[in-house]
Amino acid sequence: MTISIIPSGQACGAAVRGIDLREELSPEVVANLRQAWLQHLVLSFPDQALTDDDLERFTLYFGGFGEDPFIAPINGREHIIAVERTANETAPLFAENWHTDWSFQAVPPAGTCLYGIKIPPIGGDTWFANQHAALDEMPDELRRRLEGKMAVHSAKAAYAPDGMYGQEDQATDRSMVILPSEEANEVRTHPLLRPHPETGRLGLYGCLGYIIGIEGMSDEDALQLLMDTLAWQTSEQFQYRHQWQTNMLVAWDNRAVLHRATGGYEGHHRLLHRTTVADTAKN
Ligand code: SIN
Repeated sequence: MTISIIPSGQACGAAVRGIDLREELSPEVVANLRQAWLQHLVLSFPDQALTDDDLERFTLYFGGFGEDPFIAPINGREHIIAVERTANETAPLFAENWHTDWSFQAVPPAGTCLYGIKIPPIGGDTWFANQHAALDEMPDELRRRLEGKMAVHSAKAAYAPDGMYGQEDQATDRSMVILPSEEANEVRTHPLLRPHPETGRLGLYGCLGYIIGIEGMSDEDALQLLMDTLAWQTSEQFQYRHQWQTNMLVAWDNRAVLHRATGGYEGHHRLLHRTTVADTAKN
């Protein structure tokens, strides 16, 4: 079987065909996939009828399992969470704001794998934004404001008891099992302009949301800078809008892209299984 890698034609993303992810992959194939992943940042694998075991095996080709806080794993699996919305669910959409997964961790995950089990006939695309391109093409004036700055990351706005998915959200009909906690108030810093831990290529890392401030700046000034940056780093020319199919696996590089969920599938059930890939590259 010949593997083909078909670029999306957008700011990042490629589809991989000619591979059966139910089979063990050779080290050579894994190395080629990783190369393609580092180049295209988001790889999709359509037409893969995978079990949870297959999803876990694929994740481990890309590195160890990352640590997933604040969301309960599915029954019988330590490292798989369900990203789910039932047909008539009214809770606010999960992960609708731009973010990169778990950027508030000391060593955030290298990647995320998401596998489509029930995909609605309309809507529910996942949007990605290429953060290398966003930095490469950034106006000098904005870049100068960001250079040398350390961003303060935290999960508090999302997962603290008074956060978006906190106590009030527990009273909604959300089907995902979210576990708000005081631990979400912890903060960690990462450079706003960060060399990719594996390729060394400089990019923007993270965005307003999990970033709650900038070291050495007033809250007001930091918010203005983060809002100006968000508008730039998520603009349309840096985006790849991914359309899902049932039995499609997508693996993205959290160190190089932002992503967000979108709605538009009211009345339809959407279910995906997700793992994260630990980052073992040296920073
Ligand atoms: C996520 O951020 O993991 C979820 C993305 C999606 O549901 O499209």
